[in-house]
Amino acid sequence: MKEYHKKLNLKYASRTVYAPQWLDTYKEYYDYDTRVVKIFRLESEKIIMENIDGFILSNEEEMKKLDLKKLRYIINEVFDIWVNQWKFTTKYLEDDQLWIHNDFNIDNLMYADGRVRLIDPDSFVKKTISKGILCSGNLRYGKFFETYTRLLSLIGKNK
Ligand SMILES: Nc1ncnc2c1ncn2[C@@H]1O[C@H](COP(=O)(O)OP(=O)(O)O)[C@@H](O)[C@H]1O
Ligand SMILES: [Mg+2]
Repeated sequence: MKEYHKKLNLKYASRTVYAPQWLDTYKEYYDYDTRVVKIFRLESEKIIMENIDGFILSNEEEMKKLDLKKLRYIINEVFDIWVNQWKFTTKYLEDDQLWIHNDFNIDNLMYADGRVRLIDPDSFVKKTISKGILCSGNLRYGKFFETYTRLLSLIGKNK
């Protein structure tokens, strides 16, 4: 499998990617849902992951080439990837915690080999639901809702 090397911002990654159990939790999540990008290993200031040979869902030109059946499949997969995060449990999480992608939007979703894939793995974080995840951090910007509306508008452009 071809590798993709992503350089990390150490200031942020020391609290996420390099934090204890982060990689173990990610790997367990990958086993649960292989639509997230596979991480091979971490190096200093770098994530080594699988290279996904496809395009980002915000690539209008490529998206316009797909027929409606494929676009519907993609939208269904995007929602299913989101919902799966709420179903996942592991020994690394308390009952009121979620393992969730903190930057879920169409720029971090790809279409490759007929599959929808979620990239930017360093955005995965542990969130405590009881602390009100909608009131803090990235999730409060309604990225999921934006994903929904942007996908629908892409379907609208299909001829
Ligand atoms: N595993 C990968 N395989 C192929 N391309 C990738 C992969 N990861 C990232 N990319 C490319 O790099 C871009 C930025 O990656 P991303 O991880 O989202 O970075 P950022 O943290 O800056 O948002 C993506 O839009 C995609 O084009
Ligand atoms: Mg990104």
